[in-house]
Amino acid sequence: MNTLFIGYGRMGSAIGAAWRKSHLVGSVSAVDPHLPFSDSAQLYADLDELPQRAFELILLATKPGQACQTLAALPDPLCRGAVVISVAAGVTCASLSAALRGRCPVVRAMPNTPVLVGAGCSGLFSADVLDAERREQITQLFDAVGKAYWVEQEGQLDAVTALSGSGPAYYHLFSEALAGAGEALGLPADLAKALAAQTALGAASLQAQPGADFIELRNAVTSPNGTTAAAIARLEQDQALRHLVEAAARAAFVRSQELSQGT
Ligand SMILES: NC(=O)c1ccc[n+]([C@@H]2O[C@H](COP(=O)([O-])OP(=O)(O)OC[C@H]3O[C@@H](n4cnc5c(N)ncnc54)[C@H](OP(=O)(O)O)[C@@H]3O)[C@@H](O)[C@H]2O)c1
Repeated sequence: MNTLFIGYGRMGSAIGAAWRKSHLVGSVSAVDPHLPFSDSAQLYADLDELPQRAFELILLATKPGQACQTLAALPDPLCRGAVVISVAAGVTCASLSAALRGRCPVVRAMPNTPVLVGAGCSGLFSADVLDAERREQITQLFDAVGKAYWVEQEGQLDAVTALSGSGPAYYHLFSEALAGAGEALGLPADLAKALAAQTALGAASLQAQPGADFIELRNAVTSPNGTTAAAIARLEQDQALRHLVEAAARAAFVRSQELSQGT
């Protein structure tokens, strides 16, 4: 699959490197004003430098504010027969299609930063009819940087954003707090940080096992009247943590909706 990346910053280049490594795409071209850097894609600083040939897949990974004007400026020969996948947060299918003047079907993807290490998850949505083969191809592409999940309604991407898009930051904050607690209990900062990070990795690995259940995993560490039980009792007091997490996710959800509406 002839693939063009428009915007090859952190997200674009991470996805591009993984796709090439997976051999799911054929030639990869990328347009980004910040060149060169070490990458085996064919790199161009400007769309005008790109040979005028057709691409089967175009991945748009500019900042959201640049997405529509960039698509509007795409020359016809480049996008004839292409599917455009946009990772631009909050830019709706309707806006993207309007910018493209309906020339290509559009897919919105909401990945997260762990795609940088192949452990991301991406919500996918398209308002256009995609044949089963094309949908499967796109699923495989996002599985190559973690796991891909299609949603049925575009509005659900706001919930995906609140959960997995912003979610890595929640876990980083929790690790920061846990490492801070370790320091307060007398551990050196480096050791507290290493223990917090390795614990997050270990817990996530257990959660990722087939059939894993969050409650069973927690109960497996929580002996009655033991150390974990003492901590969990504090975290669960008045369900404060659950209420806080729900309020935080709701704030992200509302902000994502606002951004989609351009406010
Ligand atoms: N990071 C995340 O967790 C995350 C998660 C989900 C979705 N996203 C989405 O991913 C997109 C990219 O994010 P990022 O963190 O990779 O940003 P980034 O590192 O700033 O990369 C965007 C790149 O696109 C370039 N660019 C701008 N206009 C262009 C054009 N017309 N043609 C070609 N290249 C152009 C930018 O150059 P200039 O800097 O000169 O403008 C920049 O190098 C955003 O829309 C964001 O919403 C990010």
